[in-house]
Amino acid sequence: MTEAGFVHQFISGTSDRTLLLLHGTGGDEQQLIPLGRELDSGAAILSPRGNVLENGTARFFRRLAEGVFDLEDLKAQTDALAAFVRAAAGHYHFDLEKLVAVGYSNGANIAASILLRRPGLFSAAMLLRAMVPLIPEELPDLRGVDVWIAGGKEDMLIPRLSTEQLAEMLSEAGAEVTARFFDAGHALTNTELVLAKRWLDGRTGANPNR
Ligand code: MLT
Repeated sequence: MTEAGFVHQFISGTSDRTLLLLHGTGGDEQQLIPLGRELDSGAAILSPRGNVLENGTARFFRRLAEGVFDLEDLKAQTDALAAFVRAAAGHYHFDLEKLVAVGYSNGANIAASILLRRPGLFSAAMLLRAMVPLIPEELPDLRGVDVWIAGGKEDMLIPRLSTEQLAEMLSEAGAEVTARFFDAGHALTNTELVLAKRWLDGRTGANPNR
């Protein structure tokens, strides 16, 4: 599958769930595979590499400075990634209804951007160290979408206020949001991963609206 324009890895699974893994700045399509395996060892995995290079490191969209995003590029990359995910579902024959987006840092920000710009693609998303990527002109309809948001209380890159604003925006749009802040910095901790896994396991079939 080359036409969609994202270097990626696809690993088939034994359950019907697929995890869309979206890495952080400087990561690649391999970075979150151990995390995905820990969250659900039986899930299929789709893991694209961000198409934007910043000093040679991969990201999912351009930024002008730390935490200041190039909004035009963010919108274009969001739409390209959403189109890639749809094309990949057809190509690899996985069920988009069973897709869970799992994004870390820059990957969490583009996952949040897809929720806000392309509602209907994700019915569940795990946003690990996310902030408000953009403010949509109109709030999308996110009823029936489950979102887990995990912040680090000592994260120097992602302001807690912005994570809280994102949680509020998604709730206001109708998503079922669980937001937790952990005794952690930007890196993920084992404690939160145990809770994230519990959230993922607990939501199976919990979405009668979709
Ligand atoms: C971003 O640029 O998406 C955030 O600042 C997180 C990161 O540093 O990648």
